Amino acid sequence: MVADQKTLAQLMAHLQEEYNSLEKYKFQVEMTSNPLVKEQLEKLLKMEEKHIQLLEKVLGLHMEVHVEVEKPSDQEGKSVYEWLAQDYEDERQAYHRYKRQSESEDKEIKQILERLAQDELTHMDMLKEIYRILP
Ligand SMILES: [Fe+2]
Repeated sequence: MVADQKTLAQLMAHLQEEYNSLEKYKFQVEMTSNPLVKEQLEKLLKMEEKHIQLLEKVLGLHMEVHVEVEKPSDQEGKSVYEWLAQDYEDERQAYHRYKRQSESEDKEIKQILERLAQDELTHMDMLKEIYRILP
C-alpha cells in the first residue's frame, strides 16, 4: 500500500479524531443512567475502536504511530440530548472528512476511507435512533 506524506498526515488527523470520539463515548457510556442509551453508545464505541484499529494498521505500515489521548473536557454537566446533538454533529463532520479525502486518493486508501465514511453515516442513523427512544 502506497501513501505519501500528505495522505499520512491526514490519516493521522483522522486517527486523533477517532480517539477523541472514543473518549467522548466512553465518558457518555459511563455517565448515562439510561440502560438503552448505554447499550447503543457502547455499540458506537466498539465501532470507533474498529476505526482506530484500521487506521493504526494502515499508518503502521509507514511510520511509528503515537497519539496523545485526552479526556473530554466539554462533556460534564450536559444533558443526554446535548450529548446526542453534539455526537451527531461530530459524526457528520467525520463523514465529510473521510469523504473529502477519499475523493483525492486512489485504490486501497480510497476504499478504506469510503468504508469509514459509510460507517459514520451508520453512526448518524444510530444516534437518531437513540434520540427516538429517549423519554
Ligand atoms: Fe463515528
